[in-house]
Amino acid sequence: MCGIVGYIGTEQAKDILLNGLERLEYRGYDSAGIALMNATNVEVYKEKGRIAKLRGAVAEEAEGTTGIGHTRWATHGVPSQENAHPHQSTSGRFTLVHNGVIENDQELKEAYLLDVGMKSETDTEVIVQLIEQFASEGLSAETAFRKTLGLLQGSYAIGLLDKEAPERILVAKQKSPLLIGLSSHGNVVASDAMATLALTDQYVEMMDGEVVILTKGEVNISALDGTPVSRAPYTAELDATDIEKGTYPHFMLKEIDEQPLVMRRIIQHYQDDAGRLKVDEGVRQAVKLADRLYIVACGTSWHAGLVGKQFLENIAGVPTEVHIASEFSYNRPLLSERPLFVFISQSGETADCRSVLVDVKQLGHSTLTITNSPGSTLSREADHTLLLHAGPEIAVASTKAYTAQIALLSILAVDVAQGKGATLDFDPLKELAIVANAMEVLCDEKDDYEQMARDYLSDTRNAFFIGRAVDYYVVMEAALKLKEISYIQAEGFAAGELKHGTIALIEDGTPVFGLISQPHVAGHLRGNLQEVAARGAHTCTIVTHDLATTNDAHVLPEVHPHYSPLASVVPFQLLAYYAALHRGCDVDKPRNLAKSVTVE
Ligand code: M6R
Repeated sequence: MCGIVGYIGTEQAKDILLNGLERLEYRGYDSAGIALMNATNVEVYKEKGRIAKLRGAVAEEAEGTTGIGHTRWATHGVPSQENAHPHQSTSGRFTLVHNGVIENDQELKEAYLLDVGMKSETDTEVIVQLIEQFASEGLSAETAFRKTLGLLQGSYAIGLLDKEAPERILVAKQKSPLLIGLSSHGNVVASDAMATLALTDQYVEMMDGEVVILTKGEVNISALDGTPVSRAPYTAELDATDIEKGTYPHFMLKEIDEQPLVMRRIIQHYQDDAGRLKVDEGVRQAVKLADRLYIVACGTSWHAGLVGKQFLENIAGVPTEVHIASEFSYNRPLLSERPLFVFISQSGETADCRSVLVDVKQLGHSTLTITNSPGSTLSREADHTLLLHAGPEIAVASTKAYTAQIALLSILAVDVAQGKGATLDFDPLKELAIVANAMEVLCDEKDDYEQMARDYLSDTRNAFFIGRAVDYYVVMEAALKLKEISYIQAEGFAAGELKHGTIALIEDGTPVFGLISQPHVAGHLRGNLQEVAARGAHTCTIVTHDLATTNDAHVLPEVHPHYSPLASVVPFQLLAYYAALHRGCDVDKPRNLAKSVTVE
């Protein structure tokens, strides 16, 4: 979602900000802007639409060695130039960018700003106008800033320029991600280290409730009440090439192709000296102490959790429930006596998950985050973390993070089973290595899936995916992948449910994809495909090698049935990719979506 980049130093800020915002494009946005400050003036440029448009709108001669930039994903007010950040106070003294949501903006307006004419529909403008209001009453800018922060309810990451103090940027954070970066010619502030990796790999974390006064040579961190905080920098373990497309036309395709490598990397990271899969001792103990696991996640990560439940129950014998994070608070299940909450989140920043995390921590429950983002909010705030080691995932459509999540959940299940002294009837290490090879084979068959997209999806308005048992969870993911990037209305169904309603939607030519990887339900699934074919559906069977017949055109390389979701999802990822490509969609940045969903 929204992204922030700020710079203060000796270089011109314009390109640093615009390049940084481009690096944050993957998060999803609908408008963008920058403010450049020099000794006498602050110039603001904002545009609805892409950064490229903003770049074109910034005057060639625009100057300033201090500046803040922002990509906005609309929450309060439509995407427009007026609602884009940065926002300025009425006098133009203060200029501000903000990520997050201010929940009491209306109350604050009524209490303090009745006489102030607002220029935008945003909650953000309230912040900058409040700062001006308090400063005009005689407070120093810093005190006005802190007083305003003390009044805000909700989430924020903020960068503030003050025309009367061009030698500093004021920065604050509450629940929304923000980092400080240190470079040889100045300091930066960014929502994500990726934005400023070209300048530095040295970063200082910011914690909730902290304020930073950033100058070109110093980083002064303090608590909201002014108490100084000292914190050492860390080296961001990001490789600049990880965030480049290289020779690929899209990040999504690159990330699909990286999956075999990610599998092998996970096997390496989660192996002990004796060559046994294992997880960190703290996590092992937490699972051991728990009488039930509650997986909480959203979107693709929720789909990974559904597959994970199968591992945890079938391999490790641990009762597991899987919940959609945004529903959890209203539909909270009766909790067991010793629950362990497992948050699955690629970004580690998903607000719906965080809200549950905060609640269950207050209740004193044990928590584990499975994430791709070390240092992310969910990772920092949970008791334990397991990292995916998938490398940055830039495309909005999650691919390699999904398979990494499933692989890691399988390792957790194997570790728990081994800890209980269970003898497994398969060698998990060998089977995961076979999965990596199978993924490679599937990635080499791109032409087949491109053709499948042409044959089935080039002019359809909807598509159905059916599966049974664990294949049901995979087809839910297949449908999400297709709909989010190609805008074809797609649904994943438990095949047995079709006849209870959905089959009414089948017309001549409706594409129905059936996944068959589980021997015990293969016959039923074939029957369901025949039922829809008899009603005109254009059916496509994707089946594992051991269950294929001579008529099956799309046969998956054989992997252990436990691990089939890791291989069987790959054709669907490719199918979605090519369907979106053929329809001329923006594959990596689908409309209305954000990579990191930091609002509830
Ligand atoms: O970062 P998270 O894993 O918490 O994100 C959860 C969902 O927003 C995410 O998986 C979303 O569904 C993806 N766009 C799917 O491709």
